[in-house]
Amino acid sequence: MNDDSLGLRAATGGRGVPWPVGADGKVVHYGACRSARRRLPRWHATGRDDTSNMSKRAIITGITGQDGSYLAELLLEKGYHVVGVVRRSSAPNLWRIEHLLDRIELRPADLLDQLSILRLIDEVRPHEVYNLAAMSFVPASWDTPLLTGEFNSQGVTRVLEAIRQVDRSIRFYQASSSEMFGKVREVPQSEMTPFHPRSPYGVSKVYGHYITVNYRESYDMFACSGILFNHESPRRGLEFVTRKVTDGVARIKLGLSDSLALGNLDAQRDWGFAGDYVKAMWLMLQQPSPDDYVVATGETHAVRELVQIAFEHVGLDWERYVKVDPRYLRPAEVDLLIGDPSKARQELGWRQEVDFRGLVTMMVDADLARLEKGGVPAQPLA
Ligand code: NAP
Ligand code: GDD
Repeated sequence: MNDDSLGLRAATGGRGVPWPVGADGKVVHYGACRSARRRLPRWHATGRDDTSNMSKRAIITGITGQDGSYLAELLLEKGYHVVGVVRRSSAPNLWRIEHLLDRIELRPADLLDQLSILRLIDEVRPHEVYNLAAMSFVPASWDTPLLTGEFNSQGVTRVLEAIRQVDRSIRFYQASSSEMFGKVREVPQSEMTPFHPRSPYGVSKVYGHYITVNYRESYDMFACSGILFNHESPRRGLEFVTRKVTDGVARIKLGLSDSLALGNLDAQRDWGFAGDYVKAMWLMLQQPSPDDYVVATGETHAVRELVQIAFEHVGLDWERYVKVDPRYLRPAEVDLLIGDPSKARQELGWRQEVDFRGLVTMMVDADLARLEKGGVPAQPLA
């Protein structure tokens, strides 16, 4: 299969990616046969020049998703050659990266298909792999628990295994989740808090987390797990509560709708801005050694508060429009999430720039602008 067969237009930058340059300024050759590849040094002994991003190649699985689009922007700014993974679908889903298509390379692969992942890693020979691809919507995981495990658990193993076979010096980021804390054992949640997942999604992410830790410990691989709390943006999918609310508020304000049906208004989340969170992903892979980090704001807010701020921002009283619909309640809920980002702050120097109110109002404004321009729901203009 080539890129054209996916209908990706001129999105690929071709396969002639540059070879990396070592610390001595010379081109690093990996050798043509598998036995030579197996003798490659591990991440701590690599001759690659890790101080310059100009020669670095990164693979992003999930590049068509919210985080993938922000991470691609960040890595391009830093001079990376960005290779995004797209899976075959009946209609391309490229709206979040439309503005980047002439600067990134798209390649076909699927987390369900080991050979496609192996070929991808072997052909691209990246310095860094960011595994963001997943079935990420919690309610859908009760409808498709087995498939969720295939994507989010075995999918991680497939990527790790491909890296292990091709070149163990490749640095790996796994998109782990605060959903793993579930019925929380302590408040706030840190890297040391035990997991108690409450959905097939959460369970699948626990597997993804531990298999990442296991490959690090078993094979000395530079594998990091970022335990990220909820992060949102104008590019968030419309099914998630923040975007559902901001889109709903914009519709009501513009007279396109007269009510908004939601589920549990008491659930509390630690919500941040996705653009801030992708910086933490990159920072993790630039450290001298691999580790796991909680990334969060350290604040929690109820869904009710999110709703109130969003409606207030356009001068409306939320209680006149919001209805609770039991269809949106979950078989098992995560009542409270609040992260302790101390380690990420101290060791990575990571800081959030957008606060909760700033995030909600940014999203409402973006939805108003999109709808005023006649944007369709599936393809927001932001
Ligand atoms: P998202 O917008 O739902 O994007 C998910 C991405 O995964 C899409 O690009 C999707 O591709 C891709 N994908 C799904 N199944 C795939 C498969 N079998 N093979 C290849 N690609 C596949 O999610 P997000 O919010 O950006 O989140 C990124 C990652 O972080 C996910 O792993 C999520 O679970 C995790 N996470 C997110 C948050 C958050 O609050 N956003 C918090 C913690 C962890 P298509 O376009 O083809 O569907
Ligand atoms: N989606 C949705 N729709 N959620 C609602 C609604 C509604 O109408 N009404 C209330 N909620 C509540 C949910 O019950 C949940 O407690 C909270 O809002 C947040 O729901 P989502 O926005 O769907 O996110 P999530 O917390 O379940 O999962 C997100 O964050 C995780 C990190 O904690 C996703 O991005 C996951 O992929 C991510 O791992």
